[in-house]
Amino acid sequence: MPLSKKPLLRVLDGETVFPPPIWLMRQAGRYLPEYREVRKEAGDFLDLCYTPKHAVEVTLQPIRRYGFDAAIIFSDILVVPDALGQTVAFRQGEGPVLDALKGDEALKKLVWNPAKLSPVYEAITKVRSNLAEEVALIGFAGAPWTLAAYMIEGGGSRDFAKAKRWAEERPDSFGQLISVLVENISNHLISQIEAGADTIQIFDSWAGVLSPSQFERWCLEPTRKIVSKLRKAYPNVPVIGFPRGVDTRYQIYAEKSGVNGISIDTDISPKWAAEKLQPMLCVQGNLDPQALIQGGKTMEAATTKILENLAGGPFIFNLGHGVNLKTPPDHVAQLVERVRKTA
Ligand code: CP3
Repeated sequence: MPLSKKPLLRVLDGETVFPPPIWLMRQAGRYLPEYREVRKEAGDFLDLCYTPKHAVEVTLQPIRRYGFDAAIIFSDILVVPDALGQTVAFRQGEGPVLDALKGDEALKKLVWNPAKLSPVYEAITKVRSNLAEEVALIGFAGAPWTLAAYMIEGGGSRDFAKAKRWAEERPDSFGQLISVLVENISNHLISQIEAGADTIQIFDSWAGVLSPSQFERWCLEPTRKIVSKLRKAYPNVPVIGFPRGVDTRYQIYAEKSGVNGISIDTDISPKWAAEKLQPMLCVQGNLDPQALIQGGKTMEAATTKILENLAGGPFIFNLGHGVNLKTPPDHVAQLVERVRKTA
């Protein structure tokens, strides 16, 4: 008897499933006209995240349209700094803007206010009650390093130099910030599981800018702590890690973080992942979002290569990063059809 009817949970438990389950990072978003409609009605991006009616609707849109094997709750990694009292805003065409943390004093002002996130949990419960039994619901959070990077930088950056510098020059206070994040990211993830999330993904989108020693200390170790807290509270809820850009360090992450699944970016070859990662855990990935934009032969060749290397073991088909805004929605339908023809 399989543990679960949900293909996504079966592969995370180590089974090989044909055809492999599929979902896409950023499957809800501006490439979908129905998303743009709701976004217009909600106005502000954070209002969209914090209004359960809207968050539920946009979470379900890609499920209705494409029949993915998983829904990911519509929210953002930056709701955690928001719930810690930092000012977070999303400006049109500019991406996120935060009131950057400056000195060590700024850390004292961070106070966790979980009430702020109750709409997220309410939305999760509502989504769960609207999903078919076979469809998994993914909760998520940013990893401590990636959140600290945005909090110190005050927004996006190419290299997150300010955050790296703080970590190097003032490791004690940086470590305090990371501890606060480990604690509250864990709280946020546990509340998502309590509300109905079947599995969790941890996004460490900027792990790739860390030096090898920084990687161990600020990516791997805090992630391991979060995974062990989740495991203690909910031993049967699998965790997927996404340390984007860490190249061959993916192998150490797979060995040491404790995650059940690993999401690989487009720099990783499917063959390498099949040899080095898949014997240890379920692999997720890694079609180039650009190949999804191009469609046709480019998408077909890249998809075939991924399936040939990875579909023989525990595997989740996904992209190597989020769906790009310029993606033609039809290409997504063609991709789902192609992946499901694997069997
Ligand atoms: O469908 C899903 O995947 C669920 C929702 C989701 C969003 N953001 C919605 C969103 C998820 C899982 C995220 C994660 C997220 N947010 C990450 C990690 C993944 C990654 O991309 O590396 C990061 C770094 C963020 C921070 C963030 N949020 C940025 C940098 C931006 C601006 C970039 C952009 O695309 O505009 C956002 C805004 C955001 N989050 C949008 C969406 C759909 C676009 C906002 C809009 O509608 O205007």
